[in-house]
Amino acid sequence: MLDVSFGPDRHAKIAYRFRDDVAEAETYGLAAWDGDLMIGAIQYWPCSVAGVKALLLGPLAVAPSYRGRGAAKALVNQSLRLVEDAGLDLVVLIGDPKLYLQYGFTPARGQDLSIDGEPDERVQMKPLTEAGRRATGLVSPGT
Ligand SMILES: CC(C)(COP(=O)(O)OP(=O)(O)OC[C@H]1O[C@@H](n2cnc3c(N)ncnc32)[C@H](O)[C@@H]1OP(=O)(O)O)[C@@H](O)C(=O)NCCC(=O)NCCS
Repeated sequence: MLDVSFGPDRHAKIAYRFRDDVAEAETYGLAAWDGDLMIGAIQYWPCSVAGVKALLLGPLAVAPSYRGRGAAKALVNQSLRLVEDAGLDLVVLIGDPKLYLQYGFTPARGQDLSIDGEPDERVQMKPLTEAGRRATGLVSPGT
């Protein structure tokens, strides 16, 4: 599903620098199922911004024939609730602002927060605490 959604060369993307050699934050990842067929998934990876513990959201993907029926919305909303309940400070992601605005993400450039090599307009953030709201600087992989 990820190969279909992001292409077989997806491992070359900058986001994978945050996933290679870092253990997934499995507590927050979710999958959507149609019977025993996995039709969507969301994952999170530990990262940090100037000492503030954060999570990088992604990949988020839904199988093509199941798109447009609310699966992604359910995956994002339910997983973000888990992240929020756990008391984490900040969620960041690399993606289209048009897709993530509805979940409360805003462009990180307004806060001087960036991901090395990624255009500013692709970096989105959702602070969950005061520490998250104050986080500035480069996002680094792992804790
Ligand atoms: C993007 C993707 C995950 C959306 O999955 P989906 O299950 O079709 O999304 P939903 O049906 O839950 O849509 C939820 C909302 O997001 C909107 N939306 C969906 N895809 C969008 C996109 N690419 N850009 C902007 N908005 C989008 C929908 O219109 C819907 O809004 P509404 O509730 O106001 O009607 C899916 O198209 C996909 O897997 N694409 C390929 C991988 C990808 O691009 N992932 C995101 C990487 S940043």
